[in-house]
Formats: sequence, C-alpha cells, structure tokens
Amino acid sequence: MKRSTVYLGTVALSFAAIVPIPAQPQQPVDLETIVARCVSCHGQGGVSTDPDIPNLAGQHTEYLVKQLHAFQYGGRRLLQDRHSDDLAPVNRRSNPHMSSQSFGLDDDQINTVAAYFSSQPCQSGHPENAPVSISKIERCAVCHGATGISHLQDVPKLAGQKKNYMVEQLTVLRDHARAYNIVGHSTLRSSSIMETQAFTLTNGEIDNLASYFAAQSCSDPIRR
Ligand code: HEC
Ligand code: HEC
Repeated sequence: MKRSTVYLGTVALSFAAIVPIPAQPQQPVDLETIVARCVSCHGQGGVSTDPDIPNLAGQHTEYLVKQLHAFQYGGRRLLQDRHSDDLAPVNRRSNPHMSSQSFGLDDDQINTVAAYFSSQPCQSGHPENAPVSISKIERCAVCHGATGISHLQDVPKLAGQKKNYMVEQLTVLRDHARAYNIVGHSTLRSSSIMETQAFTLTNGEIDNLASYFAAQSCSDPIRR
C-alpha cells in the first residue's frame, strides 16, 4: 500500500516536471460587482434597513477587514473540523448568510471593499430614544468610546448600529464564553476580548446597552 502511494507520487511529480500546468489566471472582479452583492443585504452605501443586518457605512476599515477574515476562517474551520483548536488565537465568526459571502474574496478585494464601506456616510440613531440609566457602560466606553465611537481601529464603532444585531452578537459572545446554548444560534463568534466583556452581562443589560449605542449619533466627536 505504502509502495503504490510512493510510486503514484513519483509518476505525478515527473508528469508535472515534463508538462508544466499553466497557472490559472485569477478572474479580476471589479469593486462595483462585489459591492452590488453586499448592498443587497447591507443596504445602499452599507446603511442597512434590516434590524438583523449590521450597517457597514463609516465603520473602521481595519475592523471590517478583520471580520471578513474571521468569517473566512470560521466557516472553513467549522466545515473542516469542528473540534480542532489549531486556529484558536484567530477570532472566528460563522453565519449562514455571511460565511459564503466572504469565501470568494481574496485579500485585495477584502481591503478594497472594506475601504469602500468605511468611506460611506454613517447612519445615526435617535439620541432621544437612548435609555437614561445604562448599567456597565463605563466598561464598554474604555474601548468603544462613551458614545460608541471608538478611537481604536480594530474596535467597532457602535453608534447608530442596529440594536437587534448588537443584542444577537452580545448574546452569542456571552453564550460562547459560557460554552452553553450555542447550538441553537445560527451565528457563532469568538473573540477573547469581547467574550470576557460579555460573560457577566444579563439579558436585560444586553438589551439596555444595545439600545443605548443604537441611539447614538455616529458623527459626534470621540468621547472616551
Ligand atoms: C445574504 C445577505 C448578506 C450578503 C449578500 C452580505 N452580507 Fe455581510 N452580513 C450579513 C449578516 C446577516 C451579517 C451578520 C452576521 C452575524 O450575525 O454574524 C453580516 C455581517 C457582516 C460583517 C460584520 C459587520 C460587523 O459589524 O461586525 C461584515 C464586515 C460584512 N457582513 C461584510 C459584507 C460584505 C463586504 C459583503 C459583500 C461581499 C456582504 N457582507 C454581503 C448578511 C449579508
Ligand atoms: C477591551 C476592549 C473592549 C471592551 C472593554 C468592550 N469591547 Fe466590545 N468589542 C471589542 C472588540 C475588539 C470587538 C471586536 C471583536 C471581534 O473582532 O470579533 C468588540 C465587538 C463588540 C460588538 C460587536 C459589534 C459588531 O459590529 O459586530 C459589540 C455589540 C460590543 N463589542 C459591545 C460592547 C459592550 C456592550 C461592552 C461593555 C459591556 C464592550 N463591548 C466592551 C473591544 C471591547
């Protein structure tokens, strides 16, 4: 058995040496074509009209790039081996809608499409709808800014983001950290930083914090 494997390998190698296989040229896909796909869910210019789908408009480029890589890693890993921890240090995300969207994109396309959505005008919430008392907000403000506009490029802006979407993300991060109840979620997400943050949040606090950030103006100056 071992022998025939070696033999076949040798044949394949020598065949490759004689008849070089031409490299398949990558089909260039222009930005417009990619963006057209994204906005069918994320809305024109990345301003979403669906409460479960995040705005991309005005988000930090670096953060968007990281998330697209996280979907690529997450989806592939989940498909290949649910129990392997070899990609443990990399943040992972998986979602039935987004994982397949990220698969066909190479690094250049990811950088370009992220820069495009980052440059689009962001959508503000309605500050008058913000809850008056917000439990644990001081903790979040350290990284996300007091009104959800983070100064750190790999930390997402939350101001004006969709409330339902944020509730779902915080719940998934918390449940992932507590390692229970993740089977029922259509979304999976791992991030050691955010899992630590979400770990102790109650459902009520998650709702309250998401309402607060969703209501903020996205074009205010950064407040730490
Ligand atoms: C079929 C609908 C659909 C399409 C098409 C789609 N997305 Fe998404 N996208 C989603 C959903 C749903 C989520 C939330 C995923 C989750 O809950 O984890 C999401 C999340 C994201 C996020 C994470 C945002 C954040 O705040 O963390 C990024 C980045 C993103 N999409 C980029 C894109 C790009 C770029 C394209 C086009 C190549 C695209 N999406 C196409 C549905 C879609
Ligand atoms: C130490 C820094 C830090 C603190 C403190 C922090 N976060 Fe985050 N947060 C992050 C990072 C980094 C991410 C991106 C994680 C990833 O790459 O998946 C994130 C992601 C999120 C997201 C997902 C946004 C999106 O677009 O998908 C939400 C919602 C969120 N944080 C809310 C909160 C709330 C609420 C608090 C306070 C209880 C908080 N965060 C505290 C760093 C922090």
